[in-house]
Amino acid sequence: MPSRLPSPGSFALVVALASLAGCTQNDDPEGASRLYAKINEGEGFRTWRRAPGFATRQPSFTAHSDAVEVFVNAEVAAALDGPTPILTWPEGALIVKEGFSGDARSLVAVMEKRAGRWYWAEYDGDGNALYSGEPKVCVGCHDKRQSYSDWVYSFELPR
Ligand code: HEC
Repeated sequence: MPSRLPSPGSFALVVALASLAGCTQNDDPEGASRLYAKINEGEGFRTWRRAPGFATRQPSFTAHSDAVEVFVNAEVAAALDGPTPILTWPEGALIVKEGFSGDARSLVAVMEKRAGRWYWAEYDGDGNALYSGEPKVCVGCHDKRQSYSDWVYSFELPR
């Protein structure tokens, strides 16, 4: 019964959606939810310090959104203000990037320093986790900045 077979078009769409879903790596769903709650605690990360160079929304260099806003928590702010040059961001450092496509928020990406390593998480615009833990895709691109700024792209260590 050929009429019950999916059309080639819809089959291609299903394959595309399946492979898109397969690309995400939400290895630690509970940790991702806890971290999302943490960055939204109280008045939320949008009231934190804006990262150097990100006083306003800036064009993004990645394909995932058109423009970004980057926020840092008190630990990062203290390191940036501190008198001493540092080689790594301090324990507890939290950096949040919000990505926008047009006016709509399309992603929230987070890095948190835990026991000397970065914990990574990315959510869609509604806060659903897509990546968490140490996803290959995050590490594999940010590692280009490992020795330069302790994995951070948008701003530098105080030197
Ligand atoms: C193809 C390279 C690439 C990949 C893959 C990538 N990033 Fe980024 N990331 C960047 C660049 C470039 C910036 C600087 C801001 C911008 O242009 O969007 C950035 C910025 C960030 C920031 C703000 C702090 C900083 O380093 O500037 C966070 C947080 C972040 N990314 C998290 C993630 C997470 C989580 C993942 C994995 C889900 C990820 N990134 C995957 C390139 C990448």
